[in-house]
Amino acid sequence: MLDTLAIRTRRTTASRLATRDEAPLEFGKLFSDHMFVVDYRDGEWQDAQIMPFGDMPVSPANSALHYGQAIFEGMKAYPTDGGGVALFRPLDNWARLNASAERMCMPAIPEELFMQGLKELVRLDAPWVPSVPGGALYIRPFMFATDGMLGVRPSDTYRFAVITCPVDLYYTKPLRVRFEQKYVRSAEGGAGFAKNAGNYGAAMYPTKLAQEEGYNQLIWTDASEHQYVEESGTMNIAFVIDGKLVTPALSTSILDGITRRSVLQLAHDLGVPVEERRVSSREIIAALEAGTLHEAFGVGTAATIAPIATIGYEGHDYELPAAAPDALSKRIGAALGAIRTGQAPDPHGWVVPVGE
Ligand code: COI
Repeated sequence: MLDTLAIRTRRTTASRLATRDEAPLEFGKLFSDHMFVVDYRDGEWQDAQIMPFGDMPVSPANSALHYGQAIFEGMKAYPTDGGGVALFRPLDNWARLNASAERMCMPAIPEELFMQGLKELVRLDAPWVPSVPGGALYIRPFMFATDGMLGVRPSDTYRFAVITCPVDLYYTKPLRVRFEQKYVRSAEGGAGFAKNAGNYGAAMYPTKLAQEEGYNQLIWTDASEHQYVEESGTMNIAFVIDGKLVTPALSTSILDGITRRSVLQLAHDLGVPVEERRVSSREIIAALEAGTLHEAFGVGTAATIAPIATIGYEGHDYELPAAAPDALSKRIGAALGAIRTGQAPDPHGWVVPVGE
């Protein structure tokens, strides 16, 4: 078992911090100075280190490149009111990473290794955490197979790494989305619940087609009937229908989003009825026509809470009313923001300071 206290740190001698532009940041383009890296070989995790962010050599026969044994997480660190930096629900990401790892025949990461690597990295790169409203340090833990061998079988060796980047809001204006009724993101029994790279790669082509039609994202529907809502491209999805918060129930084809969990909990705390169940595209359109669909929004780590302005269905665009100042999505977004930054109490124990 790896001694989790033994993370070697090699600091950069050429920090890029001073050259950082304060202009709005395009998501995922600018990376902080350091990364955390640990390798799995001979049945254990070894050589944990924090080093300058940079390229990693891989074998051209790397089986992640050929067969897609690659998983990731998305999480954020926020500046807190007390002048520190805190992670949001990191143990939920750790547990989900390991659930993805199991589905993809990859080794689990021990909790102490994940948490210690993460905290040391974020402490070291704390000056990169943006202090602008809505800004955060996006954290991307990921694991990939490193065997250089073309046989189709699980790799024997892996690398786990964490990189971080300062970000603003992922979506800056209300979204145009449409129901997808031809392509499929994932079927029941597939790997849709896991955060494996292939789920995202395979979604790019149908998403590109929708973007060419003027939409930002798709609303994926179930693989067998194309009737039931699953999730939206980079986020889960929720609707406010008749005063209730309605979202598709989890299944093997839907990502168990951590922002989704938080939003449902906060709605419950606000006394709003929450329904996790099957939601059909027809129900959404009927509610739009009847005027009982008050809000629709995406929820995700990168996207945070992203209001939806337009929903396309069978060639017709349906407009949603603009979100009122007391809209549920706004109230939940404000409550979530206040907890993350320490401006409000954290009754569910979601906030984990990275320490001095
Ligand atoms: C996230 O919200 O963290 C995601 O992983 C979505 C996307 C940017 C891939």
